[in-house]
Amino acid sequence: MLKDIQNEILKLKKEKDICILAHSYQAREIVEIADFSGDSYALSVKASEVSNKNVIMCGVKFMAETVKILSPEKRVFLAHSDAGCLMADMADKEIISEIKEQNKDYTVVAYINTTADLKTICDVCVTSSSAVQIVKNIKNNNILFIPDCNLGAYVAQQLPEKNIKLIQGGCPVHAQVKPEEVKNAKEKHPNADVLVHPECIQEVVKLADFVGSTSAIMEYAKKSEKKEFIIGTELSIAEHLSYECPDKKFYYLSKNLICKDMRLTTLMDVYNCIKGEGGYEIKLDNKTICEAKVCIDEMIRLNHI
Ligand code: 13P
Ligand code: SF4
Repeated sequence: MLKDIQNEILKLKKEKDICILAHSYQAREIVEIADFSGDSYALSVKASEVSNKNVIMCGVKFMAETVKILSPEKRVFLAHSDAGCLMADMADKEIISEIKEQNKDYTVVAYINTTADLKTICDVCVTSSSAVQIVKNIKNNNILFIPDCNLGAYVAQQLPEKNIKLIQGGCPVHAQVKPEEVKNAKEKHPNADVLVHPECIQEVVKLADFVGSTSAIMEYAKKSEKKEFIIGTELSIAEHLSYECPDKKFYYLSKNLICKDMRLTTLMDVYNCIKGEGGYEIKLDNKTICEAKVCIDEMIRLNHI
């Protein structure tokens, strides 16, 4: 049955000239039918490269908005209409405008996990995999980093030459992991490397053997000669890795690492969306697209200097 639906999706996407993009946190059966899956940075680059007339994003809303901003001529759909990002939805444009006003000599760096509307008042975007490199390449040493204070603190720690101002905000899913959980997991699995996402708090990040984006964590585990890993990001990553590396063992750093929004999308949602009976079409006005595009283009430019 599942295979039948997958085959039907593969057939329809060819007929209707649709590209399916899936974030690494998506379920196995969705990743299998996607044209491309990866972390937020890779998805953004892919978004500007695809030649199809239509795109379905299996992920959360800001990811679909990024596709629309980079390819406004395409019809872009979010496979599940309610899939938001707690961190992106938390950041208030009015408050950030005020902070920006009080810090006129600062470059405003926005984590890509922000709404298209908020991006319109920011100078540069970053993702978890590109943040350090991009902030390093910004000429101004004064950086206002929004909205993830944990990723921002990680960048600040890597780049002591920069004066990085943080605001309160972050991913509640990753930020709830406690250093004691790392210590307990290490005691239980002394031969395992601890791989964490930089959205975790600094006390957790400092105890890790590797810090990286969802794709970077997967790459590290695949290439490593080690056989055991404790995964400090959404549970789906450990699940994907256990399929891809059956000779290795993957443990959850915390069983609470579940992003409800990322888990909303099912294969049936993709199927209904592709049939034109579901999903949510991203509509952005031209002004928002033009203004938000500036900081995404700048992200890609600064990551390649
Ligand atoms: P990545 O850029 O590492 O894929 O992260 C996206 C995200 O939302 C992590 O919670
Ligand atoms: Fe947003 Fe956190 Fe979910 Fe990532 S894990 S999509 S940052 S709420």
